[in-house]
Amino acid sequence: MFSAPGSGHPRSVTEPLDVFGDAADTATDLPPDLDALRARAAGCTACELYRDTTGTVFGSGPPRARLVMVGEQPGDQEDRQQAPFVGPAGRLLDEALDEAGIARDDAYVTNAVKHFNFRYQGKRRIHETPKAGHIKACRPWLDAELALVEPQVLLTLGATAGKALLGSSFRITAERGEPRTWNDMALVPTIHPSAILRADPARGQDRDEMFAGFVADLRVARGLLRD
Ligand code: URA
Repeated sequence: MFSAPGSGHPRSVTEPLDVFGDAADTATDLPPDLDALRARAAGCTACELYRDTTGTVFGSGPPRARLVMVGEQPGDQEDRQQAPFVGPAGRLLDEALDEAGIARDDAYVTNAVKHFNFRYQGKRRIHETPKAGHIKACRPWLDAELALVEPQVLLTLGATAGKALLGSSFRITAERGEPRTWNDMALVPTIHPSAILRADPARGQDRDEMFAGFVADLRVARGLLRD
């Protein structure tokens, strides 16, 4: 059953939860559209991340997009601008989509976690990987977005989004680019654009190669779209 998280007292999610084995139920209490869902999500207090952030960064894009891309969580820029993928990772994503022949306006983009998780280093806000409990707390929003948009193809960007939808046994390096069926949708897992931005030659990572591989995965997703 879809229930808006956070109607009760804020709870801490710092303790480990078995989120990946525990898919959310179907959305029986689904709002009529994404605007109504966004309005509900704006007040989410289901985990502690809402406390130090600007607000819930909800998905964006056409309400009936054929492709939905799921990232990890908003970054610093996304939190400030209250929109997903508008910072450096978003710019790289735009470039790759362009190269793969997918218009960003054709795709709905969202995140597994809708508040920025960070720690302070001086005045800077440094990204922290979301915990299982954050993903679990946010999952009803993602499920409801998917139920409303009903995309043909889902693209998970990075390990967090892959695990959020495919379970904790998901392994990005072994499984990226391999399409599978997930809840009647085609799903293609791929790497996160931030991984390309962080490419480290000392670890044998070549930025151009990683970008080309990312574009190849996007093309796989594009090939699964129907008219
Ligand atoms: N990284 C993500 O996973 N999502 C964003 O919205 C921005 C950066």
